[in-house]
Amino acid sequence: MPAQKNIVILISGRGSNMEALLHAKLPCRIAAVISNKTDAQGLETARAHGIATAVVSHLDYADRECFDTALAAEIDRHTPDLVVLAGFMRILTPAFVARYTGRLINIHPSLLPAYAGLHTHEQALRDGVRVHGCTVHFVTADLDHGPIIIQAAVPVSQNDTAATLAARVLHEEHRIYPQAIRWLCHDRVRLNPQGRVSIAPPEQMGGPLISPGLD
Ligand code: GRF
Repeated sequence: MPAQKNIVILISGRGSNMEALLHAKLPCRIAAVISNKTDAQGLETARAHGIATAVVSHLDYADRECFDTALAAEIDRHTPDLVVLAGFMRILTPAFVARYTGRLINIHPSLLPAYAGLHTHEQALRDGVRVHGCTVHFVTADLDHGPIIIQAAVPVSQNDTAATLAARVLHEEHRIYPQAIRWLCHDRVRLNPQGRVSIAPPEQMGGPLISPGLD
């Protein structure tokens, strides 16, 4: 049996995606949870699960480069095979991203490439889209535009608020993030030299989503 991979999870707040990963019985070792905020709720959850935690506060560093260098040093103490951004609210420098090429992933609450950045649910409602969702992708220097591993789509109701839509999307985030990481742990997902993602053996096609539903 190959050795279990180490993963390090980076958070900034609530940590519900991190918690979903802790509950998912992943075939890897969650070596540490690191936050850039001392008061991140997710730190408590991680500690309650017996996971090592650390805080590297961006407020303690003069610029992004210095912060990212300190963050990388803390991450590397755990010799991670995979670095997982789970609600980590800092823009990372190209040097940091390059250091972890092919082993740095993120979850974003939209069907990328639509709605990169913040306030994705508000943007989706404003545009009147009928389908919205979430994306797990490799991180590149191009914010929220790295190669896509898996996406989940949800219907948008005309009665939705940003909060109801966010809750529906988050439910799917908690399903697709563990799946993506399971594939990565089993070396089934690869970022090829052309910057595209391949999944082996070829993945199951998901079902279609029609929204609103047909009569
Ligand atoms: C999630 O919606 C995630 O997609 C986005 O930030 C939010 C984090 O939520 N990147 P949580 O901290 O995992 O609960």
